[in-house]
Amino acid sequence: MKNIVVLVSGGGTNLQALIDAQKKGLIPNGNISCVISSNPEAYALVRAKENGIPTRIITPKSYATKETYTNALLEALFQEYADLIVLAGFMTILDEKIIHAYRNQIINIHPSLIPSFCGQGFYGLRVHEAVLQRGVKLTGATVHFVNEIADDGPIILQQPVAVHPDDTPETLQKRVMQEAEWKILPQAVRLFCDNRLEVRGKTVWIAE
Ligand code: GRF
Repeated sequence: MKNIVVLVSGGGTNLQALIDAQKKGLIPNGNISCVISSNPEAYALVRAKENGIPTRIITPKSYATKETYTNALLEALFQEYADLIVLAGFMTILDEKIIHAYRNQIINIHPSLIPSFCGQGFYGLRVHEAVLQRGVKLTGATVHFVNEIADDGPIILQQPVAVHPDDTPETLQKRVMQEAEWKILPQAVRLFCDNRLEVRGKTVWIAE
């Protein structure tokens, strides 16, 4: 059984999708063992508590330097015996030290079809605003392993979503979450916990 540690900063609807999948028995080889929030006010913490999942709050602001913050987060991940770290709306860029310690064990959900509308500055509603401005007909979500560059790691799963002519950033964000993010994040976590993912270069192979 793999220990899944979920890192959050906000509402936690993706965390909720993972909790629901676990309750339905869809992640048989994994257990959400801890939720770590960078924000003490995050509603994701309420979701965790309601479901009996231990929580920790590790706020970058409470540390004098990025290094001391990174060390505190790393220490927590070691203490939790994390096998898989899921960034589910986590608004802090992880230091390379953590990425090196957990190579191909950290996954992120991004609300576009990478490599479009991703990288530095593309987060939250900004992604959907850029999609609407460019006038693309398809967007979606991507689950990928995390490497040293924002949204650049090997892609695990992608799900396309149609853009409607009358969409606002808010309606599009909601549809991307419902039709893509909440589906592919639990699927990717399951594949990881079942040892079915193998990274070769930039490509993730999924075993049958
Ligand atoms: C999601 O759109 C996710 O793709 C992005 O941040 C948002 C988090 O939403 N990385 P929630 O906190 O899971 O509701």
